[in-house]
Amino acid sequence: ELEFFFPVEHTLAVIKPTAVKEHKDDIMQKVTNAGFIVSQMKETNFTREMATQFYKAHEGKPFFDQLVNYMSEGPSVIMILTKENAVEEWRQLMGPTDPDVAKESSPDSLRAQFAQDILRNAVHGSSNKEHALKSIEYVFGEIDLNSLSHN
Ligand code: PPS
Repeated sequence: ELEFFFPVEHTLAVIKPTAVKEHKDDIMQKVTNAGFIVSQMKETNFTREMATQFYKAHEGKPFFDQLVNYMSEGPSVIMILTKENAVEEWRQLMGPTDPDVAKESSPDSLRAQFAQDILRNAVHGSSNKEHALKSIEYVFGEIDLNSLSHN
């Protein structure tokens, strides 16, 4: 009999400003129900400079200024989520970027349930392991990921 398992990973998750105001408790409930460990968490109001740095991969896209303005308009909740296959599983739980798409394809996802539109889309998650490590270091500094909770 074969047993398959994924290695424990860490991803960076953000509850965006509108969702912090309106749906923080519901979202946190779903995070823990899905089996994620919240290894680190802080509430921070991104400055425009921080948001610009955080979303650097999207600099030059037509929506970039809007995104930076929105992300700095109020506090976000920023977390390190830990779980087997965390990067992919968090993206699954978030659902597609655009909530109209999410409502069609993944009605149980966070964006289907809690997003207003593609900009105010409730949550962010790292797109891959490399981005996760970079974002974690940017937000939380150089922390020892091996010392974080693994269960
Ligand atoms: S991309 O280009 O496919 O990598 O972009 P995507 O991952 O879909 O989205 C990246 C982030 O940009 C935001 N976004 C937008 N904001 C405003 N208007 C439009 N049209 C738009 N398209 C994308 C979106 O909320 C994504 O933010 P995160 O925090 O990564 O979810």
